[in-house]
Amino acid sequence: MPQPSSARLHEFRIVSNDKIAQDIFSLVIEAPQLAKTIKPGQFMNFEVPGNAMSLLRIPLSFARADADAGTVEIWYAVVGDGTERLSRMKPGDTSTVLGPGGKGWGVPAECSRALLVGGGIGVPPLVPLAAELARAGIPFDVCLGAKTASELVGESELDALGAQTLSVATDDGTEGHCGFVTDLAAELLQQGGYDYVATCGPGVMMQKVAEAALAAGAYCEASLERMMSCGFGACSTCNVETTEGMKGACMCGPVFDASKVVVW
Ligand SMILES: Cc1cc2nc3c(=O)[nH]c(=O)nc-3n(C[C@H](O)[C@H](O)[C@H](O)COP(=O)(O)OP(=O)(O)OC[C@H]3O[C@@H](n4cnc5c(N)ncnc54)[C@H](O)[C@@H]3O)c2cc1C
Ligand code: FES
Repeated sequence: MPQPSSARLHEFRIVSNDKIAQDIFSLVIEAPQLAKTIKPGQFMNFEVPGNAMSLLRIPLSFARADADAGTVEIWYAVVGDGTERLSRMKPGDTSTVLGPGGKGWGVPAECSRALLVGGGIGVPPLVPLAAELARAGIPFDVCLGAKTASELVGESELDALGAQTLSVATDDGTEGHCGFVTDLAAELLQQGGYDYVATCGPGVMMQKVAEAALAAGAYCEASLERMMSCGFGACSTCNVETTEGMKGACMCGPVFDASKVVVW
C-alpha cells in the first residue's frame, strides 16, 4: 500500500536559474519548509506560469537541499513547453510547488559499498543520495553517462561528495569511455563487493544495470520516470507494472526495488 502523501503546497521564490550544460539548467528556489523536509529520491511538482492552456504541474527531482539556507536546487533539461517556460523564469519570480512527493531511496541498513549509475538528466536524484552515503560513511563508486560531454552533469559534485571512483561514458566518445555507461557499471559489478546499486536514467539503461546488479547479488533500486498528471495518487497516469501489480510512481515510487519492475 502507498504511504499517505507527505506533499503540501509551498510558495517559492527563484534565487537563480542558470544554464549548466547543453539545454540543462540549475534552478535554485527559496522554499524553507521544503528544504527541511525533502528526502533523497523524492520529487516536487512545479507550477510554471505563462500558459493558461497548461494545467499540469511539472515533476522534478532535486539535486541539493540546504535546510539552513532554506533552498532547494533542481537540475532540469529543457524538453518541451513547460521546461522552456521554466528556463525563462528569473531570480525574484515566484510560483508554487507541491512536495515533497513519493518514496525516495532506501539504502539497506547493512550496506557496506554502493554503486550509483546515472544517465543523462537522471543524475540529479543520485546527488543527495551520494551526500547521504557520505554522511553515513558508506563508500560509493559512481558511473555517469551522457550522449555527449556537453550534456554531462554531476561529475564535479559527485566527486566532491567523495566518490571512491568516478567513471564517465559518452555515446560519442567526447569524454571518458566511448559507449554506454552500462558497460562501465557491468565491469564494476563483475568485480564484486557491492551490496547496493542505485540507478536513474533512461529505462533501457536502468534495466541493464538492474540485470547486472542481480547477477552480482546486489540489491538494486531504480528511480523511474513516468508521465504524472496529479502527483498524489488520483489519476493513475504514472502506473508502473511490477511483479506485485500496477503501482503509481508518484506514491509507491519514483524509487522502486528494481527486481520487481516488469515494464521499464
Ligand atoms: C519523478 C520524476 C522526476 C523527474 N525529475 C527530473 C529532473 O530532475 N530533471 C529533469 O530534467 N526532468 C525530470 N523529470 C522529467 C520532467 O518531468 C519532464 O521532462 C517534464 O515534465 C517535461 O515537461 P515539458 O512541458 O517541458 O515537456 P512536454 O512538452 O510535456 O513534453 C516534452 C517531452 O517530454 C516527455 N515528458 C513529459 N513529461 C514527462 C514525464 N513526467 N516523464 C517522462 N517524460 C515526460 C513527453 O512525452 C515529450 O516527449 C522527472 C519526471 C518524474 C516523473
Ligand atoms: S500522477 Fe496521478 S496517480 Fe500518480
